Amino acid sequence: MRNIPFGKPIIGKEEKDAIARVLEGTTFVHGPLAHEFEHDFAAYTKAPYAVSVSSCTAGLHLAYFYLGLKAGDEVIVPAQTHVATAHAVEFCGAKPVFVDAERNTGNIDIDQIEAAITPRTKAISIVHFLGMPVDMDKINAIAKKHNLFVVEDCALAIGTYYNGIHAGLHGDLGCYSFYPVKHMTTTEGGMVITKHEQIATKLQRQKAFGVDRTVGERKVPGIYDVTMLGYNYRLNEVQAAMGIEQIKRLDSFLTTRKQNFDALYTGLKEIDEITLLQSSNGQFQSSYYCLSLVLNTEVADKRFEIVKQLNEMGIGTSVYYPKPVPHLQYYKEKYGFTENSYPNASWISYNSIALSVAPHLNLEDMQYMVNEVKNAIVKVKKLVYA
Ligand SMILES: Cc1ncc(COP(=O)(O)O)c(C=O)c1O
Repeated sequence: MRNIPFGKPIIGKEEKDAIARVLEGTTFVHGPLAHEFEHDFAAYTKAPYAVSVSSCTAGLHLAYFYLGLKAGDEVIVPAQTHVATAHAVEFCGAKPVFVDAERNTGNIDIDQIEAAITPRTKAISIVHFLGMPVDMDKINAIAKKHNLFVVEDCALAIGTYYNGIHAGLHGDLGCYSFYPVKHMTTTEGGMVITKHEQIATKLQRQKAFGVDRTVGERKVPGIYDVTMLGYNYRLNEVQAAMGIEQIKRLDSFLTTRKQNFDALYTGLKEIDEITLLQSSNGQFQSSYYCLSLVLNTEVADKRFEIVKQLNEMGIGTSVYYPKPVPHLQYYKEKYGFTENSYPNASWISYNSIALSVAPHLNLEDMQYMVNEVKNAIVKVKKLVYA
């Protein structure tokens, strides 16, 4: 039996040594490493500006804080996403207006966006679901027509390219996550990238109490002023040290993910009882976060039995995401959503199983997962696969 955890960060001697060097010194925050990591991330994505933050959620919150989002405002939010995408809007007292997913990719259904826009709409947020890029030209055309800010939630999109340009650089800004199971990790952590200097400059202040100068810019230590409200959303030096080392491995991580994904996809696509979401399309390059298989009707109600059998065979699974956000209790109660709303997001949430393609796994693991998915389906259907 193989051991296939869903996520397992790859942390080497380089990361450990880099962390140790930080701990041997006295600068744990406000140091040079956060800026070095910003520089490296900007270079990797070819972003004009990068602002390190304590998480993707913090980055999303800062995006709306920058925008001055307030009670009475609305933001278009995909129904099929992590709750953070919507919570960031709620933090500002504004209302997320959910739009269903398209069935073939899980990305926001762009054709439904305009019907959800009202005079109160201030922004469109999109998520590159599982790393598959959203058609950003279409999003930008709608945003331009209605004069809306565009926030790209890129939590799963390191290595996602749309028309050859990295995710996060198509809208006004893009927010990344370095949570442990992501493409690279800093334990917790995040990054915002943007083409706009004024956004980057303001976010650098707003992520650190609204203080008017960085520690490096202070001529007299301890003397500064506060010119705006701000949070404490900084990435610390230990996290930055880790990020600097992880980003050096990123190309190899992404190559392994794609190889694993292709092998898993090829093996699973011949199984009649499942549907696979579309993972590439011409100029759309995925970051291959994981492979989400959707169980067809005849076996869908056996999802947890299939998961149990996979787990018993050493295969860790996940679900992206367990419920459409409007079905989560907080949103259901606050806005009165019913469980039959958002049918496509529901189809994915309630019928899917996510399998890992992360770089701690290899092609033999992929073949093993293909076989075990087949076995599990055979077992639940009690018939033999040819
Ligand atoms: C689409 C999406 N947005 C935001 C987040 C939150 O990221 P973080 O944990 O870095 O705040 C996640 C986490 O998985 C996510 O999947």
